[in-house]
Amino acid sequence: MNTVRTVAEVRAALAEPRRAGRSIGLVPTMGALHEGHLSLIRRARSECAVVVMSLFVNPTQFNEAGDLAAYPRDEHRDAQLAAAAGVDYLFAPAPDDVYPPGFATTVAVAHLTEPLEGAHRGRAHFDGVTTVVTKLFNIVSPDVAYFGQKDAQQAIVVRRLVADLNMAVRIEICPTVREADGLALSSRNVLLSAADRTRAASLHRTLQAVQHAVARGERDPSAAKAPGLAELTAADIEPDYLELVAIETLAPVDRIDGDVLAVVAARVGPARLIDNEIIRVARPGGAAPGTELSENGRP
Ligand code: PAF
Repeated sequence: MNTVRTVAEVRAALAEPRRAGRSIGLVPTMGALHEGHLSLIRRARSECAVVVMSLFVNPTQFNEAGDLAAYPRDEHRDAQLAAAAGVDYLFAPAPDDVYPPGFATTVAVAHLTEPLEGAHRGRAHFDGVTTVVTKLFNIVSPDVAYFGQKDAQQAIVVRRLVADLNMAVRIEICPTVREADGLALSSRNVLLSAADRTRAASLHRTLQAVQHAVARGERDPSAAKAPGLAELTAADIEPDYLELVAIETLAPVDRIDGDVLAVVAARVGPARLIDNEIIRVARPGGAAPGTELSENGRP
């Protein structure tokens, strides 16, 4: 694996494979790699001739200075894991190379960025994500880019960005990787104390409780959410939100008449955690229900 630091270096490294028509896969990350990231890398490895992983803790998408400062960083460890998982090029730029003096452009996606994480973290969060992702796509020009379903809203926003701006990249959304007790893997999990780690597992139990209510035939979103809220209360967790939203628009649904996305966010100790599950509602004569955003969750 080669580590490249500058835009010029990554472009030079990819010029030859691109000329030769070899496919390029990009896994954008902020480091602190875990099995979730590694699953994206392995998927890219299995589908693309050349795999690039970006490692850049993007300051513009953090709404709290403390969160940015506390974000775990260990490039040496990340590089070892990335190489072992099959990355060819690690692109780890300095902040000044991504945002040089005079940088003045923001790429913003409307509507989909407003609810949920947008409402809780402020619009600058997704503006930061869409701006840096646009830059990474322009720098690397990947054929395919891989994102995790754990950040479902981000993945849906990136798909919108790519469609709206006619970007020549395919977005693949890969399944959430979980601990044995259901906790979604997240770089922030390392911030949890042992007690908070135990409580954090209730986020996934919450989503499952909602899923079970819908499976039992509940079609009223408030009633379906009730057992999920009870799970959170039992774990002494006050959610930022627990919502059932339409996959296409991320707007709360009035009634569960088709597939919905159940999303939850909460602060557990020092870490703000998010999770989601697609709840498939089989329609008579319709396709068999699946479990992943990538199957038919395109906005
Ligand atoms: O999901 C992340 O790690 C980040 O939001 C991303 C996509 C790498 C952009 O900084």
